Amino acid sequence: MLLLEESDVVDGVCDGLVDAAENLGMFPEIARQIQQLSFKKMASIPDLEVIVSRDVALTARILRLANSPYYGGRRTVTALRHALVSIGYVDAVQISLALAMTSVLVRHPRSHLVMAHSARTAVIARELARHTRALEPPEAFVAGMLHDLGKVVLLEAVGQSYAEVLERPGLTEPERLAAERHLAHVDHAVLGEQCLKRWRFSCGTTLAVRNHHQPEMTHGLEGRPAFCADALIALADWVEHAYTDSGTSGLAAAIVAHPCNVPLEIDDARAVEAVDVIQTELSALSG
Ligand SMILES: [Fe+2]
Ligand SMILES: [Fe+2]
Repeated sequence: MLLLEESDVVDGVCDGLVDAAENLGMFPEIARQIQQLSFKKMASIPDLEVIVSRDVALTARILRLANSPYYGGRRTVTALRHALVSIGYVDAVQISLALAMTSVLVRHPRSHLVMAHSARTAVIARELARHTRALEPPEAFVAGMLHDLGKVVLLEAVGQSYAEVLERPGLTEPERLAAERHLAHVDHAVLGEQCLKRWRFSCGTTLAVRNHHQPEMTHGLEGRPAFCADALIALADWVEHAYTDSGTSGLAAAIVAHPCNVPLEIDDARAVEAVDVIQTELSALSG
């Protein structure tokens, strides 16, 4: 008789859930096209413009971003080409990719439980990344935006019983992860990583997503900045919750003292600057 190991069961369940995510259109054609562009050495802004301009909602979100405090100049940008130029090609490809995916994810009926938090975490991760070498800011934006992708997949695949887990008050994060493994044999961090691996996202992004609730997994590789990506996303995730619960009071000092900051080494002055920018950016996002 063939005995299956626990890891075989998890792999099988995970593959099935990633298939389900694909069938639900969570990696849409436009995201696939933008990603293929990112692999081409000779591509440039006009190529990206051709793809993005086919999607009205995505175009509107790129324009809004180009006019946000982070990128915005003194003049309002109203043309897609100018928006992409002001963001810069490399950043624009990564950001368009994350926005193309979230445009689809937000259409799923209960994704509001996840996506507003994800959009704010993306902005925070990008700002924190400016003060570390853990991830490039656009990659941090993508990882922040997609770090809880596994939750949206579980909402769709498991349904109401998982929505109840997400909405249950007083549950700690380890308890929530355990509940996910009980319901689906896999937690949202591993599931998100498996989706992004299948869809050929970068190693830094997939690693950050997998370990965003256990960043100590890679602290043994301290000193190699690429492996601090998980600590950066874990810290951004924590900052989003802290900002939402208590605003900016004491936030800079808490960032400096946070265990995830050990490999990131954000100092007092940089933390104060980051909190200032985060406040401006998040106010603009909610406005
Ligand atoms: Fe998470
Ligand atoms: Fe999160």
